[in-house]
Formats: sequence, C-alpha cells, structure tokens
Amino acid sequence: MNKITIAIDGYSSTGKSTLAKQLAAALGYVYVDTGAMYRGITYFAMQHDWVSESHLNKSELITHLQNISLHFKFNSALGFAEMYVNGENVEKAIRTIEVSRLVSKVAEVSEVRAKLVEQQQQMGKEKGIVMDGRDIGTVVFPDAELKLFMTASAKTRAQRRFDELLEKGQRVTFEEVLQNVEERDYIDTHREDSPLVKADDAIEIDNSVMTKQEQFELVMKMVNEKL
Ligand code: C5P
Repeated sequence: MNKITIAIDGYSSTGKSTLAKQLAAALGYVYVDTGAMYRGITYFAMQHDWVSESHLNKSELITHLQNISLHFKFNSALGFAEMYVNGENVEKAIRTIEVSRLVSKVAEVSEVRAKLVEQQQQMGKEKGIVMDGRDIGTVVFPDAELKLFMTASAKTRAQRRFDELLEKGQRVTFEEVLQNVEERDYIDTHREDSPLVKADDAIEIDNSVMTKQEQFELVMKMVNEKL
C-alpha cells in the first residue's frame, strides 16, 4: 500500500503525541516525537550547566553538539519509543517541568535545529512516518502528504499537561503549568529560526471540545483519502 508522511504541528499540549501514536499504531507507521529530541539536548545541556533560568552558554552548547547522540528505542511493554541521549534512557528525565522551562530557549539555537532537522529528515526518508513538533510541515517535511495544525485554548492545554504531570507523580501547581505553556508558545511562535506557524496547506484542528476518539476518526478519514 502507498505510504505517506503525516506532519503534525501545533502549540504545547494540544494532544499531538496522543493523536500521532494512535495514527502510527493504526497504520503500522513509525512515530517520531521531535519534542523529545529538543528535550534530550536540553537535559544534556542542563547537566553540563550550559543552560539555566538565568543563562545560556550558546558557544559551549554548539561546540559540544557533535558529541550528543540521540536515538529512539522501541519499548514493547510501553508501546512507544523512548528517548536515549548518548546511550542513557532519559525518557523520564526529559518530561519534568524543569526541562519544560528551558527547552524553548535551547530550541531557538539554529545549530541545534539544523542538527535535529537533518536527523528527522533521515528518519522519514522511506515515508510511513507520523512526526509531531513545531516545524514539521513547514521545515522538516514541506512536501508531507498530510499536514495537521493542532490548537486548543491555553487553559484546556494546561489542564491536560497538569493532569499528566500529577499522574507521573510530579509536584507542580496548575498556575506553574499554565505559565509554562504560555511562555513556551510565546517563544516558539516568536523565534527567528523556524517559528511555529501553520503551513499554508495544513488543516487546522481545534480539539478543545473533541474527544480523542472523535479526533482520531476525523483524521483517519483524511488519511484514507490520501492513500
Ligand atoms: O512537543 P514538546 O512540548 O515536548 O516540545 C518541547 C519544546 O521543544 C517546544 O516547546 C519547542 O520549544 C521545542 N520544539 C521545537 N521544534 C520541534 C519540536 C519541539 O522547537 N519540532
């Protein structure tokens, strides 16, 4: 059967990864969470004190980029691929609020973006891929057959992320999460290199009042029209 590329972009916590995982499972496609890659680099940079709330040592980060290797390894028990940085499983470590606070700062660095975009394009060479992020339909795969742009109100999104973090046992307040979601959206849409924008040919989905199943069925119809 004809294989396509599905690019999913949108604001923080719009349920991109939930939808991407559902689609990948239904179609037998590979799912790539590009946010995990930016988070992986951020985690590594934090460990080396190249980034904090008050500073970003851009030159150290750029100098050492070539020594940071990222890869995904499928965990069959969990049913998704986990992120590894230089061989270390960082899947849990990259989902903390501390990483969320710094990741958009690191994602502004053009050299970081160039490295990750190249790796993402390699992963999608054979098509049959669902990739989510902020620049997938605009920069990584401008020729993707199906492009989606996800939105939902900031409050809805913060509530979802808050519930997720609580479930994972992290101690955060709703206000902290809302502030983080709003800050990241601001930086992501205002940065110079590859800002988050809807590609002209992307289909916008506002899922503020849609169930996951309704959204999945809607998008599967779009996919079937492309196959
Ligand atoms: O998707 P997630 O919320 O995990 O992404 C974390 C951050 O990584 C985003 O807020 C954004 O700053 C950055 N990112 C990016 N480009 C992508 C994916 C993520 O700049 N393709």
